[in-house]
Amino acid sequence: MADQCFGEEELNNLRQVIESGELWRGLGHANFTARFEEAFGKWLGRKYVLGVCSGTCAEEVALAGLGLEPGDEVICPASAPIFVSFPVVSIGCIPVFADVDPETLIISPAGIEARITERTRAVMVVHLWGMPAPMGEIMAMARKHHLKVLEDCAQAYGPTWRGQKVGTIGDVACYSLQQSKHISSGEGGIFATDDAEMYQRAMLFANCGMPWYGYGLAPPTPEPVAGIPIRGHFAFGHNYRMSELQGAVCLAQLPKLPEFNRRRAALVKAIEEELAGAPASSWSRPIPARSLITGLIRSGFPRRSVITVRSTTSKPSIRRCSVSAAPRWESRCRTMSPMSRAPARTPKPPPSAYAASASITPGNPRTCARMPVPSETKFNKR
Ligand SMILES: Cc1ncc(COP(=O)(O)O)c(C=O)c1O
Repeated sequence: MADQCFGEEELNNLRQVIESGELWRGLGHANFTARFEEAFGKWLGRKYVLGVCSGTCAEEVALAGLGLEPGDEVICPASAPIFVSFPVVSIGCIPVFADVDPETLIISPAGIEARITERTRAVMVVHLWGMPAPMGEIMAMARKHHLKVLEDCAQAYGPTWRGQKVGTIGDVACYSLQQSKHISSGEGGIFATDDAEMYQRAMLFANCGMPWYGYGLAPPTPEPVAGIPIRGHFAFGHNYRMSELQGAVCLAQLPKLPEFNRRRAALVKAIEEELAGAPASSWSRPIPARSLITGLIRSGFPRRSVITVRSTTSKPSIRRCSVSAAPRWESRCRTMSPMSRAPARTPKPPPSAYAASASITPGNPRTCARMPVPSETKFNKR
């Protein structure tokens, strides 16, 4: 089925990129990546979108955009790929694992509440297998405790929670474009938010500190050094950019998403019909964008198994859930991070105070996750 996922549309766009000789978005003429970001924002209903090189990077960029500080705790689901917590560690924060609903295996509001401490700053909600998390209760709790919410929609392109598309409910959403996802450029990721400042921080963090803002947001002007114009790296940042090759494929993939979702739904339905008599504890509700069946099959299969239905392969596969690594990983993260022993920052700032109180500590790249968005700051002044 892979041949049905990628075709002439992708090849045409790729050909244009190759012929232009501009495989890097920095040259800014072909603009496939920028056009994909705009199209994705329209599809999702978010104002600011940034394409990056993987879903994992999108999450790191999002956490940096949220303005977290080293030692802050981020609540993650105990039943999700363990690597969703790795970006938390990359920015010097501590992943804390919350229990999940035993039927859906999705993070539960009660599980989150049980893990909130004075260090907690954010919750990472994973809409695993296209199953929306209970966002109403999660958002109410997050607002009560002044927590930011990151929606991991790597496996959830299109499902809704009470009529609202997932990815538009929390403060920020992240998507993966890796081969097994609903749409793909082999590797790739997407960051999306409605918060201009968060987008600007994310752009700096993903773009070596360079403010290549879209959406009409004015970048600061770098001062020439000794009369020589400079490119202007205004803050610490990685290179997590999406290439024009990836942008070209993604732009061609996006219009195919409804058809891919229909195909997934048909595959899920066929498998559900075949398994109608199987002794499962429960089957998940039918959701068009769902990529996996989440009935826990109690006999004839390994326990805690789920059936994967991908759009890039017609063969369903049985997968085991890995829930056991989370507690060990959490305690390792606490041992590894010296910040976990530092006193929690107090008083806990209300969400709006994150950006206002942010500051760069030169020489300590970790703190740059909470950097201010430069306005007309005069860096490189002699
Ligand atoms: C739920 C979830 N989050 C995050 C990711 C990370 O995405 P990527 O592989 O693009 O880094 C994946 C990818 O498998 C995923 O399934």
